[in-house]
Amino acid sequence: MKFISQSALVVVATMFGAAQANWGYAFLEGTPGITTESCGVDCGRTQYRVALPTPLANPAKCCSAVTIAYNGINLQGTYTDICTSCPTVNHGVDGNITLSAALYDQLQADTPFVTWNVNN
Ligand SMILES: *[C@@H]1O[C@H](CO)[C@@H](O)[C@H](O)[C@H]1NC(C)=O
Repeated sequence: MKFISQSALVVVATMFGAAQANWGYAFLEGTPGITTESCGVDCGRTQYRVALPTPLANPAKCCSAVTIAYNGINLQGTYTDICTSCPTVNHGVDGNITLSAALYDQLQADTPFVTWNVNN
């Protein structure tokens, strides 16, 4: 019985917990040619800012947590900005993002190709 309920929990987690992974290159916030603007809400002071591509920039998700994964490194930031120069590809699912230095520096790579998710 215990085994069954644990399995059921795993299925629920797979269906609802694991949001769809998006991919794209991560740029350092302020990189020349990469433009951003506020997602519309003051999310409070945070060093861990993420700018998402324009078509994905759902204002309702402004200030949501964003997870970023690269090369075994998992980070969490806040969706504070829209990357206005980051069009999405793959029918609006994927696209490049920007990270503030406090996040970007932890990836220890030059414009790494990351996967990212916006949490609800
Ligand atoms: C994302 O960034 C990569 C690396 O600089 C670039 O080649 C690509 O064109 C960018 N994609 C979009 C959709 O802007």
